Parts: sequence; C-alpha cells; structure tokens
Amino acid sequence: MTQDDAKRMAARRALEFVEDGMLLGLGSGSTSRMFIEELGERVKQGLRVRGIATSTASRQLAESLSIPIITFDDSPVLDLAVDGADEVGPGLALIKGGGGALLREKIVASAARKFIVIADSSKLVNQLGRFPLPVEVIQMALPVVTRKLDAFGLNPRLRYRPDGARFITDEGNFIVDCSCGEITDPAKTAADIRSIPGVVEHGLFLRMASVALIASDQGVIEVSKLYGDRYKKAISRLAS
Ligand code: 5RP
Repeated sequence: MTQDDAKRMAARRALEFVEDGMLLGLGSGSTSRMFIEELGERVKQGLRVRGIATSTASRQLAESLSIPIITFDDSPVLDLAVDGADEVGPGLALIKGGGGALLREKIVASAARKFIVIADSSKLVNQLGRFPLPVEVIQMALPVVTRKLDAFGLNPRLRYRPDGARFITDEGNFIVDCSCGEITDPAKTAADIRSIPGVVEHGLFLRMASVALIASDQGVIEVSKLYGDRYKKAISRLAS
C-alpha cells in the first residue's frame, strides 16, 4: 500500500463521522484534500453539509465540488473538524502547519465540538519534534522573533517557496520553521513561543484532537488520548 492509499483510507473512514446537516471544518494538506474529495462525492449523492475551509486551496476545492462554504459569522461553532497532521504524538499532541495553514487550522479546530485527525502511520511518533515546528510571525517582527526563538534553542529558519520567494501565509505572515529536536515538554515549548510578541500562532496543537484515524496496510485504527507505555504499545502494533 502506498502512503497515498493510506491517506485515502483515513479520509474515507472520517466520512463515517459526518452526519447530514453538520457544519464542518475542512483541513488543509494532501490527506485533507482527499477527505474533501470524498465529501464532495457524498454531497453529489445528496448529503447536506456546510463547511469552513482552513486555506484558500481547500476552499477552492470545496467550492469546485459544490460543498457550500460558510464563515464564522454564520456560526462560531462547528460540529466536526477533520484535518491532517505532520506528527501525532502521545496524548494526541500534534505538530501541524507543514502546508503553512496552521493559524486557520487552529482556529477551525478550536471551534469544533469534535476534531478528528486523519493520517497515514508514518505520522505517528513517540515524541514530537522530528518534523520542524512551524511558527507564524508578523512580517515586521521577524528579526525580533527569530532572535528570541534562537535564545530558546529552537533553531528557527525562515520558510521559502520553491521559487525562492519568502513563503507568505493566507493571512499575510511569514512562517519560521524551528528544528527543535525532541520536544520533551510540548506545553512548555508552546508557552515559550507564545510569550514572544510578534508570534501569531505556532503549530503545536495540544489537547485539541478528539481522535486520530491512522491508516496503514493493517487498516485504519482509532488512536485516542493515550500516554506513556499505553501509547507506545498502541502504536508499536502499527510499526510491526
Ligand atoms: C497543513 C497541515 C497539514 O495537515 C499537514 O501538513 C499534513 O499534510 P499532509 O496531509 O499533506 O501529509 O498542517 O498546514
């Protein structure tokens, strides 16, 4: 099974949580794109849902599939948000923002009664930090924020687009990717980053996800908020 096959399986499983009439948060990235495509098929068959997208790309895809798009003016509460992740760790702590949409993703996840993560099993880790942690930064504050992230030992690097231009988020900010190494205390790392004026948001999503649907050639498993040995035992089954 390819990684894309696994992503598609996780996306399909998430559809089982979608009910007629729901207001949905639509994530960003390749796994979320598959979820939106699958959702579009269901909408074509008569499912009535409305959604808020976490990026311009996801909104455009949803609109192209006739999934009605709303804003938080229509409702500040969503029934369900479905999104991918760059890393899934113990307690369903996540690193997100590989695609640069972390700010809207966090807002949308926070507005949802239930937040489901969909991923292939390569995203499961025993400790967060292998994937660089994205931090969204106000443009004029970049040198100030970078210096302070450096002082916290977080090794910040400004993100560039493939064409060499600086990466700009949908909200007009920069992204700095921090190569932190193993994040032993995610809550402290999150608090350190939040303490810096000029930081808009960071990609640590802590205590937000309700469940993660993780797909591998063994099928899709639901990973819930397990910690320590129970978590390691649950995910070791996937690695074997
Ligand atoms: C975008 C994200 C994505 O959910 C994350 O990067 C996972 O992407 P993919 O599904 O392509 O592996 O956080 O900002």
